[in-house]
Amino acid sequence: MTRLILIGFMGSGKTTIGRLLANALRLPHLDLDDLVAADANCSIAQIFTDQGEAYFRDLESQALISVIRKPGILSTGGGTPVREENRQLLIDSDTPVVFLKASPEVIVNRLKGDHNRPLLRQLDTNQFMELYRKREWFYNQAADMTIDTDKKTPEKIMREILAQI
Ligand code: S3P
Repeated sequence: MTRLILIGFMGSGKTTIGRLLANALRLPHLDLDDLVAADANCSIAQIFTDQGEAYFRDLESQALISVIRKPGILSTGGGTPVREENRQLLIDSDTPVVFLKASPEVIVNRLKGDHNRPLLRQLDTNQFMELYRKREWFYNQAADMTIDTDKKTPEKIMREILAQI
């Protein structure tokens, strides 16, 4: 196994678990947001502010195409599987796609005071829940396996993934 893809909502642990897995498997850790930011020479929040979400999504799709066949553990962005073309790339990638599932309560708790995620700004509880439910559908479509992450340490989550791939 030389490739694995992590998907899930913001705050579900994609980056943390991705780093741990990469370390354990001695593979590169590839972070899609980092790739987009490096290509644009600009933070994700700044891209949203200056050019808007649609522009960010185009960059995200391009970055996904460029990285999806590379060996490594790929941590996607929370919105990556929303676009049909991205979902299809994930499904056709011949790579295990792991959905890191966290409950809305856990996510809200983890992201309290977060200022780096433009999508979370100005969402009330109902809007957050609507986004969460919509996203869950996309994650389920793209995933080969789902790992419940609530009340588990990152190490335990990593071990569960390693036991299943
Ligand atoms: C987004 C999630 C973010 C980042 C961008 C949009 C989303 O990544 O790609 O802010 O649409 O859910 P993380 O899931 O790593 O926070």
